[in-house]
Amino acid sequence: MVKLNSKKRVAVFISGRGSNLKNLNIFSKKRNSKFIISLVISNKKNAKGIVYAKKNKILCKIIDDIKNFEKKALLLIKLNKIDLLCLAGFMKVLSSNFIKKVGIPIINVHPSLLPKFKGLNTHQRAIDAREEYSGCTIHYVNDKLDSGKVILQKKVKILKKDTPKSLANKIQKEEHKIFSKALNSIC
Ligand code: GRF
Repeated sequence: MVKLNSKKRVAVFISGRGSNLKNLNIFSKKRNSKFIISLVISNKKNAKGIVYAKKNKILCKIIDDIKNFEKKALLLIKLNKIDLLCLAGFMKVLSSNFIKKVGIPIINVHPSLLPKFKGLNTHQRAIDAREEYSGCTIHYVNDKLDSGKVILQKKVKILKKDTPKSLANKIQKEEHKIFSKALNSIC
């Protein structure tokens, strides 16, 4: 059994709904989880994920001051002795300076089968390109957008009737499963 004090302390950066945050937190309560969610930082003051974090008594900070986001976030990460950082629907690109200074692994969830469809509007682009499959990727973050080493991927079939929205829904269900699995595997 994993002892509580040996669990890795994870910070999660969010900008929106926070469904990935919720699933990471639920997984963290399981016996075989090697991590706990110790800190949530949102760069948007109206992100729904903040409500979830507060209800679940997770330390949650809002930094909507774009200019000082990285400086303040770095301080909170050091103060709270964070071991790993997860980007879960975090819609801001972190600078290479931040990545270097933070000194801990950073992982991200991306809604495509990387290296295909980096960046935004992935579902529309996958449909337009008549791909047979899309999916999601959990990967390390480096200083190039959506380009770090892949940890885990899950394929999802694109059906003729799929819209960007229906595809997003199917893919999110898979994100929720593989994010915790990938995070646990690197703890
Ligand atoms: C996810 O679909 C993720 O792939 C993308 O942003 C979405 C975030 O969803 N990067 P949520 O905020 O975790 O619900």
